[in-house]
Amino acid sequence: MPSEPIYVITGASKGIGLETLKYLVEVPGYIISVSRTIPEELSKILNANTSKIAHFCGKVEDPEISKMVIRTIEEKGGKLNALILNVGIAPIAPIDKIDADVWRAVFDINFFSMVDLAQRAIPYLKKAKGRVIMLSSGAAVNAKNGWSIYCCTKACVNMFAKVLSLEQSDIKTIALRPGVVNTGMQEEIRKQMKNGFTKEDIEKFKNYEKNKELKDPKEPASVIFNLAIPENEFPMELNGEFVSIDDEKLAKFKTFKPE
Ligand SMILES: NC(=O)c1ccc[n+]([C@@H]2O[C@H](COP(=O)([O-])OP(=O)(O)OC[C@H]3O[C@@H](n4cnc5c(N)ncnc54)[C@H](OP(=O)(O)O)[C@@H]3O)[C@@H](O)[C@H]2O)c1
Repeated sequence: MPSEPIYVITGASKGIGLETLKYLVEVPGYIISVSRTIPEELSKILNANTSKIAHFCGKVEDPEISKMVIRTIEEKGGKLNALILNVGIAPIAPIDKIDADVWRAVFDINFFSMVDLAQRAIPYLKKAKGRVIMLSSGAAVNAKNGWSIYCCTKACVNMFAKVLSLEQSDIKTIALRPGVVNTGMQEEIRKQMKNGFTKEDIEKFKNYEKNKELKDPKEPASVIFNLAIPENEFPMELNGEFVSIDDEKLAKFKTFKPE
């Protein structure tokens, strides 16, 4: 009998990660999730799925968390079908106001945590011919005043995805651009944007909310879910690429249609 698929998802407590987790619990498989907190909605999901989800409460940048994730993959048979690297934070400040320690701390969360978990997971992903789905951003390719750290970490994510796909022919990799999504991250951006965004960008980000232009997090989550499950063939032309969830080539993966 084939073993059930195993999925790992980081940042599963809120926003895009939580919506992706909700899709994953509806299909056969075992889920290993990570976040620092367990808000009520996640708590209900965990309590209703005790035999289906192992949740680790901690920081993605803590290698002990990665080790616990890997131990659980081993205990569950040692094959990993999809590694969803979703955690990201987006602090805003001009370069001359950011200490090097802050750069290092954010790089640890947004980038080195991905490197650490992906690297440890390679042998298990290879066994399942699995997928690595990394959450990137338009900020990876569009410079913005005040967003140096975020832009740089996401640019690194894109290149990491590309090289991983070159080196590991058994693993499929993609760096996704989810668009501007209605999550806690956007709330946080609106709170912080006066710290470094230009007047034009402040207006733009205010208007996303005012004009209801923010995407429902279910939209990117449906794309992530459909790229993760082994029932769907991975779009090989996108292997290693940085791709918007609105790209025509991902249309059939976007099963949540906004009204
Ligand atoms: N929202 C957007 O408009 C947008 C646009 C482009 C790209 N993205 C990218 O999409 C991804 C998800 O964003 P989102 O909008 O869903 O963000 P979000 O609503 O802020 O959720 C972030 C998730 O990451 C977790 N997290 C944050 N820091 C962590 C840490 N150090 N260790 C463990 N977990 C941590 C949070 O949970 P806890 O607080 O419980 O730890 C939460 O579950 C990010 O990589 C982001 O850069 C988002």
